[in-house]
Amino acid sequence: MMWLLSIAALAALAFFSLSSSTVMAASTSFRMVTWNLRFDSMPNNITVQQSLDALPDPMVQPAFLNLTDEQPWSTRRIKVAQRLLSENIVLAGFQEALVRQVTDLAELLGSDFGWVGVGRDDGVAAGEFSPIFYKKSVFELLSNDTFWLSNTPFVAGSKFPGAGSVRIATATHFRVKATGKTFAYINTHLDDQSDDQRRLGASLILWRAHFEAAQAGGHSTVLITGDFNSGEAGDDSGAYTIITGQIAPVAINATFEERFPVPDGALPGFKALDLREQVPRFNVSGNWATFTGFNDPDDTSDFQRIDFVFGGSNGGWTGHAITVESTLTDDGVIASDHRPVFGDISL
Ligand SMILES: *[C@@H]1O[C@H](CO)[C@@H](O)[C@H](O)[C@H]1NC(C)=O
Ligand SMILES: *[C@@H]1O[C@H](CO)[C@@H](O)[C@H](O)[C@H]1NC(C)=O
Ligand SMILES: *[C@@H]1O[C@H](CO)[C@@H](O)[C@H](O)[C@H]1NC(C)=O
Ligand SMILES: *[C@@H]1O[C@H](CO)[C@@H](O)[C@H](O)[C@H]1NC(C)=O
Ligand SMILES: *[C@@H]1O[C@H](CO)[C@@H](O)[C@H](O)[C@H]1NC(C)=O
Repeated sequence: MMWLLSIAALAALAFFSLSSSTVMAASTSFRMVTWNLRFDSMPNNITVQQSLDALPDPMVQPAFLNLTDEQPWSTRRIKVAQRLLSENIVLAGFQEALVRQVTDLAELLGSDFGWVGVGRDDGVAAGEFSPIFYKKSVFELLSNDTFWLSNTPFVAGSKFPGAGSVRIATATHFRVKATGKTFAYINTHLDDQSDDQRRLGASLILWRAHFEAAQAGGHSTVLITGDFNSGEAGDDSGAYTIITGQIAPVAINATFEERFPVPDGALPGFKALDLREQVPRFNVSGNWATFTGFNDPDDTSDFQRIDFVFGGSNGGWTGHAITVESTLTDDGVIASDHRPVFGDISL
């Protein structure tokens, strides 16, 4: 009897460990975002606490849309953080953030979030970051590094000849705590002036993504976000057409290829898939433009769709929805000159 009982107990144990391993294999759905925050061009040394204290409390009817154009980051940061939290994002790639913007966001998002990234000008804290923020209860950060989108990708601060600015990509590896699944995530901001830089940047990122995807027998998941400073079609669409495999990449630094070797024959034709094309049309929502130049809503002449969420063509991820949301509020404040692009995916 005892013996039978323990067989039953063992069977129960086996059943439970089976079902818990089934749970372990289940997917995790989450919302991520790519958002160019607009660098803090109007620094006024107002502390985060002062911005919070200045919020009208209780909320009052504003003079509608009476603030126009760019507002200081000290005002915008509250709207940015509130929006991120209310959208329940757990993974974020930002662009243009100066170090004080990164630390402000870390303060406003709170200790639930961790972040990585470096200033592009010196590899430490000078110049704009392309930081990655993540919710620590959902993801464990395994590693992070930065490479420069230049002819010398491992030289901090190196700039592509003819580019307007130094350009970087922030690369990470994460583990999803609930499932144990690991993935690579790369966030970037390509040049606003040089299409050649954008093509080189896209080629370096595609190479690195291919390398990442080729790990674990080609089953390693890769996500990519960024402000590409160019659209998916028309003039200057080289970066988009390269990363999505429509045209061939340009030649990149050989040391980079050696440091991130793609094994011969691994994932031939690997490319990035635009999340927008991986979901039903109904699930592509919100606005078309991701860049509005603080002209929302009165002047649409500068509106562009240049910020993207991609996943590797080797799979391991499922796209559910993508939405581009306006951040204009009744007071007329626009949180950034780019809109946030929210992606719903599962891993
Ligand atoms: C802000 O602080 C910096 C030093 O951190 C100072 O150089 C600058 O003058 C201050 N700006 C204003 C508007 O107070
Ligand atoms: C906006 O309205 C507030 C009152 O609600 C006023 O104090 C402020 O000066 C106005 N700003 C502009 C730019 O008109
Ligand atoms: C990011 O990587 C650098 C270099 O390996 C490391 O020193 C740093 O601790 C990492 N950041 C985090 C948050 O793990
Ligand atoms: C490739 O980049 C490395 C450092 O990132 C640099 O030392 C090397 O000279 C570059 N190669 C070429 C051909 O420019
Ligand atoms: C598209 O969105 C609907 C509504 O949110 C959702 O039920 C559906 O699962 C989504 N489609 C995919 C492929 O995820």
